[in-house]
Amino acid sequence: MAKTIVMGNFKGGVGKTKVSVMTAWEMVHQFGKKVLLIDMDPQGNASTLIARTAGITELQNTIFTGFQTGDLKNTILEVEENLHLIPASLTFKNLPKFLYSKFETEIEQVSYLKQLLEPIKEDYDYILIDVPPTISDFSDNAMMAADYVLIILQAQELSLEGSETYVSYLQFMADNYDADIQVAGVLPVLLRPGSRVDESTVERAKELFGDDNVLQHFIKHLERLKAWDVTGITDKDQHDRKAHQVFIDATEELIKKIEHFEEAGKYE
Ligand SMILES: Nc1ncnc2c1ncn2[C@@H]1O[C@H](COP(=O)(O)OP(=O)(O)OP(=O)(O)O)[C@@H](O)[C@H]1O
Ligand SMILES: [Mg+2]
Repeated sequence: MAKTIVMGNFKGGVGKTKVSVMTAWEMVHQFGKKVLLIDMDPQGNASTLIARTAGITELQNTIFTGFQTGDLKNTILEVEENLHLIPASLTFKNLPKFLYSKFETEIEQVSYLKQLLEPIKEDYDYILIDVPPTISDFSDNAMMAADYVLIILQAQELSLEGSETYVSYLQFMADNYDADIQVAGVLPVLLRPGSRVDESTVERAKELFGDDNVLQHFIKHLERLKAWDVTGITDKDQHDRKAHQVFIDATEELIKKIEHFEEAGKYE
């Protein structure tokens, strides 16, 4: 049965999409997992990167069709045997209107993705969800559907903005809709060239989330990701391998954390 993970932060451009795609990629290629990546962002950045990598030029069925027909199975694109994608496109921006017309109650509106994933979960080891950086029906649905959140922390600034909001909002969702989501960890990501991990940000993150919850591995600034935006993900030279290694280390730590939570959960 798949464990579902959403990448969380209510701030734009902190690396959520890159971490979603690369975590999915390394889970499949390094750790032998079967993974479904769900693009919940109408911008479709995760879909574009995966499609480019696989040489797919046109994405036909997208997630919104699945929401409209009540069946996500037909929207699953088998990129590789163990890497599947539910792509998004701009039409998905109409999700809120659709949900309000289909469902009367808020709980039904926010729980629709969870409902649609039920028959699919048994087919995967992990389901990863990439969301837009807004507090919206998109992120609400992802939160309700997810077992875990990996909080993406922009680590070079003296600010936890975005991750703090995210955590208060998790609590709100738990209180109001019984969302049952566990913080799998907090992953520091550095987006500025040459930036180092800002110790004080990481310290504050540890205070806020607990020492053990901040991942020891972090995602450093990787110029190579820009090249991959153009060429798709490659693994040809040492720069490629260095970039992969950064994500492999973080992914391994994440998998271990989740396995640990799952073990602990069995004896509760
Ligand atoms: N580790 C990294 N090193 C260098 N650049 C990065 C890294 N991670 C992400 N980027 C770049 O930063 C930008 C934002 O990344 P990304 O799209 O993953 O963020 P996001 O949080 O998903 O953004 P949004 O909130 O718009 O969905 C992109 O241009 C991406 O190429
Ligand atoms: Mg994104």
